[in-house]
Amino acid sequence: MDKLVNSAASFIKKMGNGVVLTGSGISSESGIATYRDKGGLWDKYKEGSTGGILTVLANYPDDAPDILSGFFESLYHGKPNPGHVGIAELEKEGFINSVITQNIDGLHYDAGSSNIYELHGNIFRLKCMNCSKKTSLSKQQFYKMGNKIVDHLTKYSFESIFDVLPKCSCKGVMRPDFVSFGEPVPDILEAVKEAKSCKFMMIVGTSGVVYPAASLPQHAKSGGAYIIEINMEESALTKQADIFIQGKAGEVIPKLIEKVREKSI
Ligand code: APR
Repeated sequence: MDKLVNSAASFIKKMGNGVVLTGSGISSESGIATYRDKGGLWDKYKEGSTGGILTVLANYPDDAPDILSGFFESLYHGKPNPGHVGIAELEKEGFINSVITQNIDGLHYDAGSSNIYELHGNIFRLKCMNCSKKTSLSKQQFYKMGNKIVDHLTKYSFESIFDVLPKCSCKGVMRPDFVSFGEPVPDILEAVKEAKSCKFMMIVGTSGVVYPAASLPQHAKSGGAYIIEINMEESALTKQADIFIQGKAGEVIPKLIEKVREKSI
């Protein structure tokens, strides 16, 4: 692995102008389950892989309290790990321009990254289903709302969830601002522009099966970018990678930063 890390670091140091594309794998070492891995959310509830959490909850209303309490707990307690922190350092030291993430856990912000495109939204933000107004939640407010929802669902049907969701000033129902399958993906046009203009794209912890996010490495390649992938195993994107580094993001990324800094001396 060290030889691969070394080559990737040389490229990053030489070229800069990178973009990082992340998936749930980068947050798995923060205690947040991935989706399609063994034991992941969609491993247990197969419909989720194409329909997302709302489909799973509608299909398994009796499991909704368990699914949601696990979901809310891990998102509330999740902290940035060395993978998130390393990516923030790469941005601060000028080697990458932006992070494009499929994750809704806000951990790139918490780690100190600033130029972030959240393609699938952010769970700590609410969006009104009537007027689309958005409101950010603190982790405490999010956790309190989550407990209220879980408590309600242990007593009442899943359909009545709208009774306990927060209300907007326009009286509309506000729901967590994540992008459900089939909904438009915010920031995708800017993300494609970033991908097309970068010199390298580092793909971290995604199975690469959900579009339009999974099309971004192709856009990067079409712009002549060098593709580095870090994953525990090969993904649907590995064949596009110039370098595939097999390992945990939280272990590989700190090694990569160390090598980039060594080459800066
Ligand atoms: N380090 C690096 N890679 C990891 C780690 C780790 N510690 N742990 C898991 N992985 C890899 C897995 O090998 C897998 O390739 O992360 C990937 C996780 O894949 P998925 O569970 O499919 O998650 P993701 O690619 O982010 O899913 C994309 O699907 O359901 C939708 O909206 C949801 O944003 C999500 C999208």
